[in-house]
Amino acid sequence: MDFINFQTPEWVCKEMVSLIPPNTRTILEPTPGAGNLVNAMGDYVVTAPDDFFAVTGRYDAVVMNPPFSPMAVGYQILYRCMGMTDTIIALMPWLTLINSERRTKDIKEWGLRSVTHLPRRAFQGARVQCCILFMKRGYEGRTEFLFI
Ligand SMILES: C[S@@+](CC[C@H](N)C(=O)[O-])C[C@H]1O[C@@H](n2cnc3c(N)ncnc32)[C@H](O)[C@@H]1O
Repeated sequence: MDFINFQTPEWVCKEMVSLIPPNTRTILEPTPGAGNLVNAMGDYVVTAPDDFFAVTGRYDAVVMNPPFSPMAVGYQILYRCMGMTDTIIALMPWLTLINSERRTKDIKEWGLRSVTHLPRRAFQGARVQCCILFMKRGYEGRTEFLFI
């Protein structure tokens, strides 16, 4: 199965929503697919477009699990979102951090508060191992590594 079709399981959605900072109101879910993340975000004002690349504006937070087929599209969406908010909660392949020094540097310099490792069973049949990046623009402290 192609990773483009992997919708976020409910328990992972809950984990991601639990990271949304207090006082957040507007949220962009750039690539909603079947809407699992949107459904998990209950009372927030959520923008969930059919075509992310047609969307502009700024949001209190971005909560996302973008398509990764090809991988470059997922990275492109992450970088574009980095210009639209100060807070990003992103389900990404581990490769995001470990196969490009440039990308690791960009993400770390933007602000990376924590990386939550997801067990392989989170996306059965997927060829890539995933994690949740909790990014806060301007954060300069050490990055926390979490298991769930
Ligand atoms: C990995 S799935 C995740 C879906 C959803 N974000 C979730 O967390 O369950 C990625 C989704 O992105 C959608 N998608 C792909 N390109 C898109 C685009 N340009 N704009 C909006 N959605 C897009 C696909 O339909 C696919 O369902």
